[in-house]
Amino acid sequence: MIRNFLLSLLCAATATASAQHLRDVLGGDVLMGVALNQWQTSGQDARTTAIVREHFNCLTPENVMKSGPLQPAEGVFDFQAADDVVAYAEANGLQVIGHCLVWHSQAPSWFFTDGTGKPVSAEVLRERIQKHISTVVGRYRGRIHGWDVVNEAIEDDGSFRRSPLYNILGEDFIELAFRAAHEADPDAELYYNDYSMALPRKREAVCRLVRRLKERGVRIDAVGMQSHLSLTHPDLHEYETTMDSLAATGVKVMVTELDVSVLPSPWGFNGAEVSQSFEYKKAMNPYTEGLPDSVQARFEERYLDLFRIYARHRQDLSRITFWGLTDEQSWLNGFPIKGRTDYPLLWNRDYRAKPVVGRIIESFR
Ligand code: XIL
Repeated sequence: MIRNFLLSLLCAATATASAQHLRDVLGGDVLMGVALNQWQTSGQDARTTAIVREHFNCLTPENVMKSGPLQPAEGVFDFQAADDVVAYAEANGLQVIGHCLVWHSQAPSWFFTDGTGKPVSAEVLRERIQKHISTVVGRYRGRIHGWDVVNEAIEDDGSFRRSPLYNILGEDFIELAFRAAHEADPDAELYYNDYSMALPRKREAVCRLVRRLKERGVRIDAVGMQSHLSLTHPDLHEYETTMDSLAATGVKVMVTELDVSVLPSPWGFNGAEVSQSFEYKKAMNPYTEGLPDSVQARFEERYLDLFRIYARHRQDLSRITFWGLTDEQSWLNGFPIKGRTDYPLLWNRDYRAKPVVGRIIESFR
């Protein structure tokens, strides 16, 4: 216990002695990533590239590696945008996270149904999953650091999500997907990824899932806590408990889609299920003219609190990825209400780093 504590102090001291970039603050074992959109990875956005090269060492494509864009029609693959991402990352010294192989959202409409619109049989769906994964993972074999193999299979109450995947195959689709990914690239890390991971029943269900996969000899390296957070949700104690619980199952923990919304959330809504939306009301979009200093201060404190937690868990963590670079680019301007102005990321709309970037770096120096 004491030895571990001393060791962690020593690691902290060596890891942070020279931190000048975000990617250094937690030491070399914790990748610092950012999600970029297709325009950004096309290489035409020089301002993004300059910031990314300075502060990050890892990249997640925000959309182009999802199954819809990759296999729009059965057997017809479109790899152009995904190829561009991998080339962009390699040219700029970034590891690539493949996001994501199996997910109920942003899947092509043909994937779960036959020509008449009826659900396909278990056998057909199994083959489709197998083929999608072997083709995609096989294409990038050796060039992808890790894959989000299954995204969002568990509901907030801990039950399995009643998606077409589950309805047709039951929970077996998860193991099937992990095995297929491992076969296609034995060296790639494999992850399960989900949102609202601070909720106790969801946390417990994901831990059960990880244990079961491990008992069955399935490779799983880490679990991603998406971390679409707000100024008030979740309770950070619960969030930290999830890190402990996941680490206790023997996997690494990753923060995979970090952003902190400053906007009011529609009644009772704190999730990230992308198909949900709420009606626009002016009162839900209060900061179109800029962010008041008082809210900016709360935003900064929230990020500093999070980084204190990450520092405490540095041994359990393998990556932190922000879900976008600048506020302009954030998906939260359109989710869960379209047409709002949010400020959830670390770079302003004019590509200037927010003061919190310097404060995070400073606090680890
Ligand atoms: C989001 C993208 O940011 C948007 O551009 C897209 O329109 C919808 O999906 N959980 C995930 C991500 O795993 O893939 C989602 O990304 C956000 C929620």
